[in-house]
Amino acid sequence: MKKASLIMDKDFRIGEVDKRIYGSFIEHLGRAVYGGIYEPGHPTADEHGFRRDVIDLVRRLQVPIVRYPGGNFVSGFNWEDSVGPRDKRPRRLDLAWFTTETNEVGLHEFADWAKKAGTEIMYAVNLGTRGPDDARNVVEYANHKSGSYYSDLRIQNGAREPFGIKLWCLGNEMDGPWQMCHRTAYEYGRVANEAAKMMKWVDPSIEVVACGSSSYLLPTFGSWEYEMLNECYENVDYVSLHRYYDNSANRTPDFLARSMDLDEFIKSVVSICDAVRGRKHLKKRLYLSFDEWNVWYHSAQQDKEITKRDKWNRALPLLEDIYNFEDALLVGSMLITFLRNADRVKVACLAQLVNVIAPIMTRNGGGAWAQTIYWPLLHASLYGRGQALRPVVDSPVYDCADYEGVPLVDAAATLDDEGGLTVFAVNRDLQEDLLLQCDLRGFGPLRVTEHIVLHHDDVKAVNTEDHPDNVSPVAGDAGQMDEGRLAVTLPSLSWNVIRLQKK
Ligand code: AHR
Repeated sequence: MKKASLIMDKDFRIGEVDKRIYGSFIEHLGRAVYGGIYEPGHPTADEHGFRRDVIDLVRRLQVPIVRYPGGNFVSGFNWEDSVGPRDKRPRRLDLAWFTTETNEVGLHEFADWAKKAGTEIMYAVNLGTRGPDDARNVVEYANHKSGSYYSDLRIQNGAREPFGIKLWCLGNEMDGPWQMCHRTAYEYGRVANEAAKMMKWVDPSIEVVACGSSSYLLPTFGSWEYEMLNECYENVDYVSLHRYYDNSANRTPDFLARSMDLDEFIKSVVSICDAVRGRKHLKKRLYLSFDEWNVWYHSAQQDKEITKRDKWNRALPLLEDIYNFEDALLVGSMLITFLRNADRVKVACLAQLVNVIAPIMTRNGGGAWAQTIYWPLLHASLYGRGQALRPVVDSPVYDCADYEGVPLVDAAATLDDEGGLTVFAVNRDLQEDLLLQCDLRGFGPLRVTEHIVLHHDDVKAVNTEDHPDNVSPVAGDAGQMDEGRLAVTLPSLSWNVIRLQKK
């Protein structure tokens, strides 16, 4: 059997894991809202029309924050359309997805849902068709206690207490030519700076995220970050990163190595933030909000047909990727990458949460179930808390078409406040199990409490409403600790969670 070694000590600290790296995203897109979280008349719907079966699946994930209401949608959205009496709310054409938005669910309803789902809101303002004035108004509406036009309007609309939204996105993907009112880096940096200033004058307790690049692959990547941060560095707290991967070439070894690209992307953005900091002679450090990430490609062809056929209809089944087992492995590796960069990545939102490129799927009038990618997110969210530690891994490597020297073992670890140690590891080997020899002597006496394994013999295996457990975790064989050393078998192509406690 192939072997790899992992050495770790409790002092190999990367940084505190910000629980918001297990965030997610709900956009007014497809069936994320209508048919996803909200379906009045569904057998599990509560008195406000929210599906309880979906809430249960979300609660189980312990999602700390959900980005809302877009995405591309937000760049044409008037937030005022989404508040006040529901029968008076306008139906609007959404130019991002060519559907009709009815505004049946708006800010108040989403805040109710978030409470039920046990999560906080990360709210995106429209810096596309609108600007700083509307941005500061929505902060006043959401967060100001009372005694001003917008705060009193909120109270009149039924919410005596402010929503208390702490994290705000300054627009969405403003570097992308597909965005409504796409801007140059300089134009965006100026608008973001003025919006951030005014929003923080209304509520100094908020934090704001400036739009970084929509992808590492765009020709403007790098210069976009540098130029726009030159204009707004002083007034923003985070820079966003977005990245989706695909396996349309059907080359699993390359696909599973994409987390190396993710790591490069993160490190490049950190370098650019620090370069602007240096040039400006500032002490303040910026952090990263990876507020869209996932695998996205399965639904591409279907989406073209749906949009052609049903343009301007409501809640079209768009971006409904059905995830397979190999997607879950890459999602696991992406989470591992965030943990290994926990000192700078403070927010990450799996895009998205329900139906739209999502870990949770529903059928209108039918069931709700966990897709394959639900599992690594669940495990990381439940057990990847506390301090992120740096494991020193010596692993056999492989070469593939796009990368050389890809480690077969991809690993990260966390140490929680009670001394509980968790090792997350993906074995990228398509054929062979691998023996991971862990040297954990620096932690004192430990015992293994659990080894969770996600594996399927077919990389293309999926979960469906009828077979929701086709790809689901099982108990692995973690073996025994022997004087601080542990040998664990990582099955070929597997996601592993090894949990240890102090003896
Ligand atoms: O998550 C789907 C879309 O991907 C978002 O609306 C947009 O921001 C990104 O391009």
